[in-house]
Amino acid sequence: MKIAITGKGGVGKTFLSATLARLFEKNNYKVIAVDADPDMNLGCALGIDEEITPLSKMDDLIEERTGARVGEYGSVFKINPKVDDILDKYSYTKGNISLLVMGTVEKGGGGCVCPATVLLRRLLKHLVTKRDEVVILDMEAGIEHLGRKVTENVDLMIVVVEPSKKSILTAERIKKLANDIGVTNLKVVVNKVKNKEEKEIFKEIFEKEVGIPILGFVSYNDEVSKCDLVGKPIDLSSKPGREIEDIFKHIIETKNK
Ligand SMILES: Nc1ncnc2c1ncn2[C@@H]1O[C@H](COP(=O)(O)OP(=O)(O)OP(=O)(O)O)[C@@H](O)[C@H]1O
Ligand SMILES: [Mg+2]
Repeated sequence: MKIAITGKGGVGKTFLSATLARLFEKNNYKVIAVDADPDMNLGCALGIDEEITPLSKMDDLIEERTGARVGEYGSVFKINPKVDDILDKYSYTKGNISLLVMGTVEKGGGGCVCPATVLLRRLLKHLVTKRDEVVILDMEAGIEHLGRKVTENVDLMIVVVEPSKKSILTAERIKKLANDIGVTNLKVVVNKVKNKEEKEIFKEIFEKEVGIPILGFVSYNDEVSKCDLVGKPIDLSSKPGREIEDIFKHIIETKNK
């Protein structure tokens, strides 16, 4: 199962990614959690408190694999670098969850494709096409840069939205984009829902106007942001924890159909 989680800034992508990763683990799956968000706080949300160096900052690794020195644009480099050992060597582990932190690649001038981008893309492709573990990608809003091989091999792409009129527009845009890049299974999780009324109103508008199936709703809960402050993951038996467990069950059930 390969799941990509996307959505606008601050909607709860990292919270959902980390909680789903923990639920898969709790149910005896091996999980690869990939932090592909420039903010890079998935480690913290998983309760990993080691100091983390993102792959994009490992200049020596990038040079060793691509044959090009970082920052030397225009140099010739390998477009098919070796990536199959990177998970074992450079991931952070917590129980049966392995975390890979991608980091951001600074864009070079003149529209060049830099070695770090090639390496990370190749790694992502390897993870979604060659590994047996559950892969959960915590991503920034833009998904167009992933490459078709990755998006076509993702089993489920979740768009996280907050219940607001604006998020309807975001979802519509992502729906079109997903279609363009070969994502077939797109679903929505509505996070930070304040009450039942909000849920009902949003559900109706969303189903009518956007037409992306809703995978589940997660309540607004102060415990979630409190956990952020102290760097500890939420209790899986809390209300949002149980709501995400319902989402997890739904994912498993539809996968097995
Ligand atoms: N259900 C919720 N109830 C209360 N607070 C929440 C909930 N979900 C997320 N939050 C809070 O909202 C903030 C953003 O959450 P999170 O970091 O998961 O979002 P994100 O989409 O990954 O953001 P970014 O785009 O910055 O990476 C955090 O402070 C988090 O604690
Ligand atoms: Mg995030």
